[in-house]
Amino acid sequence: MTLLGLTAATRILDKPLPIKVFLMMLGTLIVIKRPDIVDKKNRVQSVSTQKLLAQYDYVIIGGGSAGAVLGNRLSEDENCTVFLLEAGADEEILSDVPYVASVYHTSSVWDFKTEPSSNYCLGMNNHQCDWPRGKVLGGSSVLNAMIYIRGNKRDYDSWAALGNEGWDYESVLPYFKVSEDVRAKELVDSLYHHKGGYLTVERFKYNPPIVDYFLDSGKELGYKVHDINGANQTGFSYTYGTLRDGLRCSTAKAFLRPASKRKNLHVSLKSFVEKILVKEDGTSKIAYGVLFRKGWRRYVIKAKREVILSAGSIKSPQLLMLSGIGPRDHLEEMNIPVVHHAPGVGQNFQDHVGLAGITYIVDPPPEIAHYERNKLTTNFTEIRNLESIQEMIQNSSGPLYSLVNGGIAFINTKYANKTNDYPDIELMFSAASDNGILIASAYALNSKAATALYNNITGDVQAFTIFAFLLRPRSRGFIKLKSNDPKEAPAIVPNYFQDPHDLQVLVESVRFMEKMGRTPSMRKLNARLNPNKMPECSQFDILSDEYWACYAHHFTTTVHHSVSTCKMGPINDSYAVVDARLRVHGIARLRVIDASIMPHIVSGNTNAPTIMIAEKGADMIKKDWS
Ligand SMILES: Cc1cc2nc3c(=O)[nH]c(=O)nc-3n(C[C@H](O)[C@H](O)[C@H](O)COP(=O)(O)OP(=O)(O)OC[C@H]3O[C@@H](n4cnc5c(N)ncnc54)[C@H](O)[C@@H]3O)c2cc1C
Ligand SMILES: *[C@@H]1O[C@H](CO)[C@@H](O)[C@H](O)[C@H]1NC(C)=O
Ligand SMILES: *[C@@H]1O[C@H](CO)[C@@H](O)[C@H](O)[C@H]1NC(C)=O
Ligand SMILES: *[C@@H]1O[C@H](CO)[C@@H](O)[C@H](O)[C@H]1NC(C)=O
Ligand SMILES: *[C@@H]1O[C@H](CO)[C@@H](O)[C@H](O)[C@H]1NC(C)=O
Ligand SMILES: *[C@@H]1O[C@H](CO)[C@@H](O)[C@H](O)[C@H]1NC(C)=O
Ligand SMILES: *[C@@H]1O[C@H](CO)[C@@H](O)[C@H](O)[C@H]1NC(C)=O
Repeated sequence: MTLLGLTAATRILDKPLPIKVFLMMLGTLIVIKRPDIVDKKNRVQSVSTQKLLAQYDYVIIGGGSAGAVLGNRLSEDENCTVFLLEAGADEEILSDVPYVASVYHTSSVWDFKTEPSSNYCLGMNNHQCDWPRGKVLGGSSVLNAMIYIRGNKRDYDSWAALGNEGWDYESVLPYFKVSEDVRAKELVDSLYHHKGGYLTVERFKYNPPIVDYFLDSGKELGYKVHDINGANQTGFSYTYGTLRDGLRCSTAKAFLRPASKRKNLHVSLKSFVEKILVKEDGTSKIAYGVLFRKGWRRYVIKAKREVILSAGSIKSPQLLMLSGIGPRDHLEEMNIPVVHHAPGVGQNFQDHVGLAGITYIVDPPPEIAHYERNKLTTNFTEIRNLESIQEMIQNSSGPLYSLVNGGIAFINTKYANKTNDYPDIELMFSAASDNGILIASAYALNSKAATALYNNITGDVQAFTIFAFLLRPRSRGFIKLKSNDPKEAPAIVPNYFQDPHDLQVLVESVRFMEKMGRTPSMRKLNARLNPNKMPECSQFDILSDEYWACYAHHFTTTVHHSVSTCKMGPINDSYAVVDARLRVHGIARLRVIDASIMPHIVSGNTNAPTIMIAEKGADMIKKDWS
């Protein structure tokens, strides 16, 4: 079978295609051959401005991981009108392809950068870390790595212990489950999983054989290979993703497309909210609507019941401050009239900081000689060819169905209490030989460092890389306004490594990798650490703590899990922004429902927890109005 007669061309063009050409061909062929991805009849249509109602029961700001869930759940009641505003457009077809997530951000993004630092991201231009977030229907679930992880039970028990009733693990588990449509056959019977929800969860379709060596090495180190979203978190696992038939299942696909025909749900795309409107009524302050811009015009839409802010952990605190809700001194400094003094808005910022691109060179062992040599690992550059496209388009298979991260581990460094099932490091194991260079590019590491580290890990060289990140950082950062202009990005100050303990734990993860490298499974592969050094750290021995600390200061990587900038907590916690029902303290009819409300970060990737928060939030709203 030939695809547009291109088989012969494939032979000729055995070389990797330039990325733009590759994506263009992939996109074109999807449009022609894959109606399942184009999904024309289910896609969300933006409501025209002529059809807008003057008021809706609920106005939701942001159609991301959380906002999409809310749009669906609140419009389940046909007697309620729901208005969902999203600054970006609909998802592009290319973002469905898992491979694409590793090489290119298709949809438009909020192109944030952190403030220059003298302590982290030193290897990046102007010492600023790059921080893309989704500006698209589905939000960051459209450009994330799709990894489905819920965090540790103790995280939620700790939220509850801080005075947030109803957020302990036992209480939140049903909200994780209600979303889920688990399709991995080994999980369908688990008490921790559920079939029939909107959000499909599967194993990545394509895993090169090296992932099994990673899992085996875990066993050899005394870890279990099991469901890390199940009874115990500590252990190793294949990566599971928010995937449907092997393709990305964003929250827009999962939650909004099935609701797109509902008459009571209006979704307005390319609609940028500039302000939440609050009126004073006697002694109380009440949110009553939003001001937004679409094209060149501004509109005011009122909320009969509530305004719900789901703009994510950077934009939600920014919009509150722009609306006069935030730390008094800061608002005055920005010439914003103070509506409500809320000192916690933008504070308590937390993120998972990591060591990435740590590369081990491997040789294919004799036992897998029957595999083509170049298929022990995947080379993400080499597979950028017509053959991969053809396999994906025609067969729904092949390496374009893979993610760089094939395996996950939750492990204990010497700083963790091993009896508690509360690991302190997560490892993402990448089966892509060229992951180092991909990561260097994704995080905008300067080219001198990227070249020094990875220039000879190309072509036939096979390798895997590890991305380790710190699960419970002690450092706290913040988000502040730079001006009262809604278009201007806020100042982002993550303060990575402000608490020296964070760096110590992270560096200790390298000791774990060393042990892993000595397991029988890794010996079979002759796994050896890439000896190339970060130029700025070349004075240190590559096995020393000093080297890896220096590496972390230069090649600082985030897993993009920023949270907690509008934290939930009781009224006597002056930094709490919302209460346990996610209502903003001091303002009636306004809730924040997204990743920013986490009292503290969870010990795992943050997308599934954010979806859980939205499921629970929607349920609370319905109960409060019934
Ligand atoms: C590159 C990347 C990789 C990641 N990988 C993973 C992963 O593999 N697994 C995982 O669990 N987590 C991952 N995460 C994190 C996870 O995706 C986020 O924690 C989660 O999506 C946050 O959801 P949210 O609803 O809080 O915000 P978002 O999903 O970012 O949604 C906010 C939405 O609000 C919109 N918005 C903002 N301001 C306005 C405004 N003023 N007017 C109108 N609309 C507005 C935005 O455009 C956006 O659509 C990753 C994140 C990134 C960026
Ligand atoms: C919607 O309203 C109608 C008429 O008042 C009522 O009969 C119906 O039960 C309501 N539906 C829901 C889901 O509440
Ligand atoms: C499609 O799958 C079949 C069966 O696994 C395989 O023989 C064939 O080579 C594949 N075709 C492409 C284009 O990859
Ligand atoms: C580890 O946790 C257990 C159970 O919570 C506790 O009894 C023990 O004292 C802890 N160990 C250390 C070293 O902190
Ligand atoms: C694993 O989980 C079970 C049930 O939650 C618990 O009783 C057990 O202590 C856990 N094991 C470890 C090693 O933490
Ligand atoms: C890359 O070059 C360095 C320095 O010459 C060498 O030590 C290393 O083995 C090379 N790596 C590979 C994969 O060839
Ligand atoms: C806050 O109030 C809760 C009860 O809601 C109480 O348990 C807690 O100790 C109080 N915390 C502080 C810091 O006062």
